[in-house]
Amino acid sequence: MQRIVITGATGGLGVALASLLDSQNNELVLVARDEIALRALHESLGAKHQMLVADLSSTVDLDRLIEQLLTQKIDVLINNAGLNEFGEFTDLAPAMIEQMFNVNVIAPMKLTQALLANLVRDKATVLNIGSVFGYIGFPFYAAYSATKFALRGFTEALYREYKDQGLNVLFVAPRAIATNMNDGRTEAMNKELGNTADSPESVASQIVQALQQGQTRKVIGFPEKLFARSNWYSK
Ligand SMILES: NC(=O)c1ccc[n+]([C@@H]2O[C@H](COP(=O)([O-])OP(=O)(O)OC[C@H]3O[C@@H](n4cnc5c(N)ncnc54)[C@H](OP(=O)(O)O)[C@@H]3O)[C@@H](O)[C@H]2O)c1
Repeated sequence: MQRIVITGATGGLGVALASLLDSQNNELVLVARDEIALRALHESLGAKHQMLVADLSSTVDLDRLIEQLLTQKIDVLINNAGLNEFGEFTDLAPAMIEQMFNVNVIAPMKLTQALLANLVRDKATVLNIGSVFGYIGFPFYAAYSATKFALRGFTEALYREYKDQGLNVLFVAPRAIATNMNDGRTEAMNKELGNTADSPESVASQIVQALQQGQTRKVIGFPEKLFARSNWYSK
């Protein structure tokens, strides 16, 4: 049994991760912004788990969440919450660029930093949910790709800084997942390009496997694994 914090627990991948980790007898701290959805998830999984409501783009909420988490032993911190917006970069509202960075990058970094002493002490794992777009800058995802590149840089540096002290820091990069994050336009693009969208359950199972094997990085799907490596040579 491990105590595992999952942000974005009410989203497509979050629910799949929470269900799988619950079935493996772990104790979960479910974190999300939407209280109604979070309560429903909490009730469906059972009272041994906790739920904490927080908007990760709010400094006040983030500080409160940190205070609540500092009092407990954490074995795994899963930074899963995230958002994206598909479209031409010229059409992207500057406020949305900021929101994406706040939720996808700044919140995971601040949360990890605030809990770091405890995480190192307990030889815990920080699992950052990235994206294949953290390896490949993808057109119409300029800001989202930038956030996932940043999250990957953070993950790699932190892993190298703390590995000798027993902290594992893992970056998992899924390809498209069939969740509400993708609207009809994204689905149409993926269909046109022949991109596979995995089920959240299959992605959750590969993530948990990577976690249990103590891996440090994982790209999900073929040929995406290959593209992540060969991108350096692409124009
Ligand atoms: N779907 C894909 O194709 C795909 C592919 C690769 C990687 N990923 C990554 O996988 C992770 C999970 O995505 P998903 O597909 O499960 O998306 P999702 O279904 O849209 O879920 C996203 C989760 O993040 C939460 N969130 C967003 N903004 C927040 C905020 N300000 N404060 C707190 N929580 C917030 C959402 O809560 P609310 O419901 O309150 O907004 C929701 O629980 C993300 O990091 C995403 O970048 C997704």
